[in-house]
This record gives sequence, C-alpha cells and structure tokens, in this order.
Amino acid sequence: MNLSIKTSDFLTSVQDPRRLPPAKPEIAFVGRSNVGKSSLINLLLGRKALAKVSGKPGKTRLVNYFTVNEDIYFVDLPGYGFARTSQEMRRDWSKMIEEYLLTPRTRLVVQLLDARHGVTRMDLQSIEWLCYNMVPVVIVLTKCDKLSKAALGHTLLSLRRQLKPYSVLQILASSTKSRHGRDELLGYLGAWLKQYGRAGKASKEEQQGD
Ligand code: GTP
Ligand code: MG
Repeated sequence: MNLSIKTSDFLTSVQDPRRLPPAKPEIAFVGRSNVGKSSLINLLLGRKALAKVSGKPGKTRLVNYFTVNEDIYFVDLPGYGFARTSQEMRRDWSKMIEEYLLTPRTRLVVQLLDARHGVTRMDLQSIEWLCYNMVPVVIVLTKCDKLSKAALGHTLLSLRRQLKPYSVLQILASSTKSRHGRDELLGYLGAWLKQYGRAGKASKEEQQGD
C-alpha cells in the first residue's frame, strides 16, 4: 500500500547527531550534492519548497528533519562530493553523516544517483559503507527527464549489474519534472513502513492491551 501523505512539517535542523529528535521510523535521503535529495522529498510530500532546493551544490548543510503524518520522519541530508569545500569540512561532513547513520533507529536510506552519471566512485563508497554497516538501502535514480527512455533502460540495466554484489533492496527511477517514480517510491516506502516501521508501535499497543 502506498504511503499516503496526510501532513508534513519541518521539525528541526540538527548539527550534533547525538542530539536527534525522539525516535520514530525515518527515511533518510543520501547522495551527491545537487543530485536532487531535497527536490525528491518535496515531490514525495507534495510540497513546493518545504525542503530547500538550489541550483548551486551544497545547499543543505545540516541534518534536516521533517515530520510526516505525525508518526514518521523524512530526513534531508547534506550531499557529498561538493567541490568547493576544504578537506577539513569534508572530514567533518563524513563524521557527522556517519555518526547520524550509525545512531540506532528504525531507518531506511534512500541513496540517490544522478541518472546521467550512473554510479560514481563516491556513490559506490557510500553504498559500500551502508551495506557494510547493514543499513537498509534503496536506490533512486534522479533527473530521469534528462534521458531518453532507451538511455534510461540501458542505465538501469548496467546499474543492476554493477550493484549485484551489494545488498540493495530495490532500484527505482524518478523525475521531479514529470513526477515519474513518485507512486512507485511511495508504494515501496509504504510497504517498508508496514513491515518495519510500525513494529515498535504495535508491540507497545499490544503490551498496553495486556
Ligand atoms: P544539496 O542540498 O546541495 O546536497 O543538493 P540536493 O541533492 O538537495 O539537490 P536539490 O534538490 O537542491 O536539487 C539540485 C538541482 O537539481 C536543482 O536545480 C533542482 O531543480 C534540480 N533537480 C532536482 N531533481 C530534478 C529532476 O528530477 N529533474 C531535473 N531536470 N532537475 C532536477
Ligand atoms: Mg539539499
């Protein structure tokens, strides 16, 4: 069943991953700077500019939490591979994101890849790191409107081949221009939340009912 979006609100921006908001199941969006993480969040939530989008890479700098339907979070992360940052800033970025991703939570990561570039070296490092740390990850190709149908088919095929050694759960394609992929991804998120997201809630309710 599709995740049906009823309400969505900005909650908070976090700089220190040790100070996250109270735990709820969360969907985190990871990927290269400018790949379209904030845009995809807006597309899914049906909001024009809830997450801040920019043509310039490096727009999102903090871990931004959005509350969805009051019982889950969407998390917009700063992108990697932003050229105009110092080595020191990149190290701080990795530390912050890794610490955040290793905080025990019910969490699904949506790893975004630009459909025009396929999987880059840094994307592969990210996927490897996520799989190594047993973080559940689904891949979404972005900006599919920039490719012909045939080219997209070809990219998806070679991506499936390249990612075979990794335990990614699914590979989907999207475009914020044509809204392609929105329903499919919401369907996937709905199914994932049904299986994993409500487990804590259900068992608590069951316990209260005892
Ligand atoms: P950072 O916050 O810098 O990490 O970037 P981000 O990954 O959040 O990217 P953002 O959503 O800000 O989008 C970057 C640029 O890509 C913007 O100019 C968007 O309009 C554009 N963009 C995002 N998704 C799509 C898409 O599906 N198709 C097209 N054509 N452009 C897109
Ligand atoms: Mg962003």
